[in-house]
Amino acid sequence: MKIGILNGGGDCAGLNAVTRAVVRKSDEYGYEVIGIKHGWAGLTNLDAAPLTWNEVSHIINLGGTILHTTRTNPFRTQEGPEQVLRNLKQLGLDALIAVGGEDTLSVGAKFSQLGVKVVGVPKTIDNDIVLADVTFGFDTAVNVTVEAIDRIQTTAESHDRIMVVEVMGRHAGWIAAYAGIASGANLTLVPEETIDISEICNFLKKRHDAKRMTSIVVVGEGCTLKGHVTTDQSKVDEFGHVRLGGIGEILAREIEKRVGIETRAVVLGHVTRGGSPSAYDRILATRLGVAAIEAIKKQNYGIMVCLRGNVMSHVPLSDILGKMKNLDAETIALLKDFRE
Ligand code: F6P
Repeated sequence: MKIGILNGGGDCAGLNAVTRAVVRKSDEYGYEVIGIKHGWAGLTNLDAAPLTWNEVSHIINLGGTILHTTRTNPFRTQEGPEQVLRNLKQLGLDALIAVGGEDTLSVGAKFSQLGVKVVGVPKTIDNDIVLADVTFGFDTAVNVTVEAIDRIQTTAESHDRIMVVEVMGRHAGWIAAYAGIASGANLTLVPEETIDISEICNFLKKRHDAKRMTSIVVVGEGCTLKGHVTTDQSKVDEFGHVRLGGIGEILAREIEKRVGIETRAVVLGHVTRGGSPSAYDRILATRLGVAAIEAIKKQNYGIMVCLRGNVMSHVPLSDILGKMKNLDAETIALLKDFRE
């Protein structure tokens, strides 16, 4: 049995732990593993090499991905799918493990419909994949964000400033919400809710009037502000996503103008995605890698392995297409309860 593994979309902490677990478990069953480079691009232009325990034994603590990743969508061109099918055959792959977010997994689902034996593994710092209770990368991203906000808090207090901290999380506010709650931020803004700038400024003004001279505002990059352009519409990836980033700066300027207190913006962005995975993410990623090989052993294809409750589970890949896991009502309520 020859198994290919690829990583697609934005990287996240824990990807290497999946690769390591896949190789380890494959060794046990006598399977061969081929590492496909640069996501789906490695299957359109045949960029792949065998992976053995030698290459992966010490990568559980390593951030990023040794396989490299891209946002390549082979279905964007007419010849793309055919090239992939041809190269899968040329590599002699019996099964393919696609590790990625909704975009990568949706490509996996399409190839599965074309007869490829695909097992999906969900990953994203955004934690927005439906039917997966948690995705690896998220815990690390939240911990890095909380540490950064703790540091921002002390300098903000020294200078009596308002600090706006912009965090990743394209359409879902999981990172903003969890980091906001865990760091005790005064206000957390998430894409799931509409920003009312007057309400925000009144809230900050009231704090200042009550002699609370420092405020921390966490804002998800996917938040929008009426009347302002917060995305770079000229940069669209192969899945049609615009490049986000910029809401923090806009918000800070608007707050300073309306509230009259010095306000600075910090964009954490890719800082939260890089670096070593937390212990939680290392273990979750390891469990998922093992679950992917177990699924292949049982010839269970066209599925995504995932954590549900605390149990390794699997769902049909087709069930996650075009859907997104947004913040639940309880988390949104928590954000409101601790707005102070
Ligand atoms: O999808 C994960 C993510 O980290 C989003 O939170 C963010 O908008 C995007 O990737 C950024 O991707 P890039 O690395 O292309 O800037």
